[in-house]
Amino acid sequence: MKKAHLFYTVFLLVTTSLFAQEPLLVNTYNRNTTSLSGAWNNIIDPYENGFYNYRYEPFENQENPGNGAFFMNAKAQNPQDLVEYDFDKMDTLQVPGDWNTQKKELLYYEGTLWYKKSFDYKKSENDNRVFIYFGASNYETDVYLNGKKLGKHIGGFTPFNFEVTHLLREKGNFLVVKVDNKRKKEGVPTLNTDWWNYGGITRDVKIVETPKVFIQDYFIQLDPKDNKKIICKIKLNGDQKSSKKIRVTIPELHINSEFIANEEGCIDQEISAQNIQFWSPAIPFLYDVQISVDNETLTDQIGFRTIRTKGSDILLNNTSLFLKGISIHEESPMRGGRGHSKEDALQLLTWAQELGCNYVRLAHYPHNEHMVRLADKMGILVWEENPVYWTIDWGNQDTYANAQNQLSEVITRDKNRASVIIWSMANETPTSTARNTFLNKLATFTREKDPTRLISAALEQSNYNGNPLIRTISDPFASQVDILSFNQYIGWYDGPVEKCQTIQWQIDVDKPVLISEFGAGAKYGHTGNRDQRWTEDYQEYLYQETLKMIDPIEQLAGFSPWILIDFKSPRRVLPEIQDGWNRKGLLSEKGEKKKAYYVLQEYYLHKK
Ligand code: GCU
Repeated sequence: MKKAHLFYTVFLLVTTSLFAQEPLLVNTYNRNTTSLSGAWNNIIDPYENGFYNYRYEPFENQENPGNGAFFMNAKAQNPQDLVEYDFDKMDTLQVPGDWNTQKKELLYYEGTLWYKKSFDYKKSENDNRVFIYFGASNYETDVYLNGKKLGKHIGGFTPFNFEVTHLLREKGNFLVVKVDNKRKKEGVPTLNTDWWNYGGITRDVKIVETPKVFIQDYFIQLDPKDNKKIICKIKLNGDQKSSKKIRVTIPELHINSEFIANEEGCIDQEISAQNIQFWSPAIPFLYDVQISVDNETLTDQIGFRTIRTKGSDILLNNTSLFLKGISIHEESPMRGGRGHSKEDALQLLTWAQELGCNYVRLAHYPHNEHMVRLADKMGILVWEENPVYWTIDWGNQDTYANAQNQLSEVITRDKNRASVIIWSMANETPTSTARNTFLNKLATFTREKDPTRLISAALEQSNYNGNPLIRTISDPFASQVDILSFNQYIGWYDGPVEKCQTIQWQIDVDKPVLISEFGAGAKYGHTGNRDQRWTEDYQEYLYQETLKMIDPIEQLAGFSPWILIDFKSPRRVLPEIQDGWNRKGLLSEKGEKKKAYYVLQEYYLHKK
């Protein structure tokens, strides 16, 4: 192995260990859990005074952190004691939930905020194990239980958990969480994004209790190469996990199989099955699947389908389909702020389905798990995206390790969801050698981790052989992806709407083409003539002309216009029109349908 490659491999091992969390618990929704949702005390700490001493040394690196460290949840024991904080007298924030939309003074806050939750906990079985699971927390999260550091997680949109079996008390536990949402050049995403930097514990927090040896992870999906075979990979966690008997039952397929775990507590089997009802948008059939070990049974609802490309076709269960999509940011309709609940997910996906969509692009980061579990049930295909967005610090190995870790965590969480068909590596990233290397590595990693799904990214487009009237995709990463996707804004950022009538698209690659974004801004209720920017009429006209322009693209396999609903962005400040909102939604932030909504709905209604 060449020296440089060896160095890189060692370096990656070291840096990924920075981001390697404890093994992720999958399917917490069907485990023995206790919710920690609700009111958590909080301290706003822009100077990180609760983390560093006055010499800017982390308290947690000191033998005795003393009363200055917020994670000690200190209380004055006698009149002489100096304690300059008291969580229990502080205000509270709701968890899950971003802080920005809970308090006016936090709307633009970017910095550290501490949360504290006190709780009692008695295990149901004495030798069970206990974990604390976070659905997500944006962006850098340090977690402490009863004054002891559990660990750190970097990344704002993927789950993580820590084992607390030996730290937990029956009475008087205090969980202290430091969340820092400062944007960083080396972050993923980096400094510049076109969405609100919602900080905080933005998704569910749960106590998960498991047997001593438990089912940590599993992958149960149809074999892409043989739709009469079900891949069955299961991983146990615990000391005596080897040679354990693992039973897999799928009653409606008359499957009731028992396997013996290997030395590492794993099985990797294929189960034959006849007359499988394949999952599809038309018939989103989910099978009840049970996995049992000793006295633990973990259930899930899993759809079986295959997805692949053939030339410019996307084949779902070997049938070509057109992806009638829409892009969606994870914002709670009506309530505002980061979406996190089943109700938020149901509202967003119902609006997408009413629009005529069979597909959604969850931009630009992994959304909460309710979205993909509901998409499974509703029969909506899903593009999930890693927040490798715009000008990432491509040469920074830690940045790569962070991007890979976040991608790994969402694949671990969602790899059993039939609705998820595309893993997107990135969005609108400027081409360079460093960027191509970064994305190629991510694609290779993704294919190794999940060879059953398709890979894409919003690629760069340009003039065809220098001709400004013919557009094409000229992006080195196009050779690595299964689906060619790109964002185009002719008529908004690129000339008047009439320009759509002069442009042709020439894409000389025999792969499916998915236009991942097009759109225009319009303030709901602001109407006028169609040449007047920001009117609903302009947006409607752009949709009409764009659909005419792209319909003839022979490899066109679908698109996901930008975007279902207006969303908050600090970049959008035009008074009386934007006021902190990106107005490209087909719906206003109150769910009011703009004229362009009906153009797209009509197109999807008649699109085969
Ligand atoms: C870009 C980007 C989006 C952004 C949109 C816009 O294509 O991908 O994140 O919001 O354009 O400018 O509205």
